Amino acid sequence: MWYEWLVRPALFAMDAERAHRWVGTWLKALGSVPPLVRWLRSRTTLVDPRLSVRLWDLTFPNPVGLAAGFDKGCEWVAGLPALGFGFLEVGTITPLPHGGNPSPRLFRAVKDEALINRLGFNNPGAKVARERLRRFTQRLIPIGVNIGKTPTTPQEDAISDYLNALEALFHYADYLVLNVSSPNTQGLRQFEAPSRLEELLSAVCERHRQLAGRAGGHRPPLLVKISPDLSPEQLEQVTEAALRHHLGGIIATNTTVSREGLRTLVTQEGGVSGLPLVARSTAVIQRIFRQVKGRLAVIGVGGIFSAEDAYAKIRAGASLIQIYTGLVYRGPGLVKRVNAGLLALCQRDGFSSVQAAVGTGGG
Ligand SMILES: Cc1cc2nc3c(=O)[nH]c(=O)nc-3n(C[C@H](O)[C@H](O)[C@H](O)COP(=O)(O)O)c2cc1C
Repeated sequence: MWYEWLVRPALFAMDAERAHRWVGTWLKALGSVPPLVRWLRSRTTLVDPRLSVRLWDLTFPNPVGLAAGFDKGCEWVAGLPALGFGFLEVGTITPLPHGGNPSPRLFRAVKDEALINRLGFNNPGAKVARERLRRFTQRLIPIGVNIGKTPTTPQEDAISDYLNALEALFHYADYLVLNVSSPNTQGLRQFEAPSRLEELLSAVCERHRQLAGRAGGHRPPLLVKISPDLSPEQLEQVTEAALRHHLGGIIATNTTVSREGLRTLVTQEGGVSGLPLVARSTAVIQRIFRQVKGRLAVIGVGGIFSAEDAYAKIRAGASLIQIYTGLVYRGPGLVKRVNAGLLALCQRDGFSSVQAAVGTGGG
């Protein structure tokens, strides 16, 4: 409550990106005092074995993660666990540093509880990100690393970019995500087309095998993050490719280019996140789950503002969920509220754990 009455008005009085940087300054300061992070975490985290998720030989203390794009430069990984998350995903990180698109490039559609962003992969590059992750040794929760191509790299060299980012960050990731779905980097979504995806996955999986062979047991699962704008046929093809290459999972979904459900800022360019995305992303999760039948995991993301939203995605087939825009509108207390609500909903429906509820939605 204090967030919505006190903090949010102050943040929303600032330009959206400035507010984001301001929050980051606090998270960075917090991260420099590990005992304070642990103390805050003990207050913000619900510890309950029914929330714990075992996946890819990793233990997630709860299923609620931070979505990619919030900490693009791995600057706040030390402070973020204080908010009670079960895992973090950093990035998107590209091989070379990039400033992104010109500002303004992040907008709040407040009436629609949505964000529109065309940031365009602003990030410090793989070298800096790797150094930050290398120095951060006190991991309280799993950290996924989301990678992409540098926007200035010509399309014909794009696969090398993914390979370079993979190589740079492999050792510091608990899981790795190939972002082929951001709408703000020209040509990125081409990798969702069958032949390009096949090329990308063949090259990346081969390099992943080589790196794992040399890494003495460290084998972070590879995932692909997809857009909510695929047709049912395209979605089926992407999922089939993920299965064929034995990926660890699919993250569904990124932001949408559709303006459905948006009443304000409809002409503002960029990807839409938040409430207008919630049903769309859940439908994508459901389709994937029906096709994969447990052969790979789904991470559900898009418009989660409540435990009910998270539960819908879990019952549709998501083993883990992630939040970004909900955090902006509801504040950090949302993480604990979602976890508490998930426990109540599982108990109501007779599930012994959150994991037991995954994919039970039918339909
Ligand atoms: C400002 C902003 C930046 C984002 N940047 C990235 C990114 O760099 N890489 C990525 O894979 N997804 C990025 N996303 C997408 C989110 O990770 C998420 O998939 C999407 O916002 C839907 O979730 P939400 O409705 O909870 O925000 C970004 C989203 C926002 C709002």
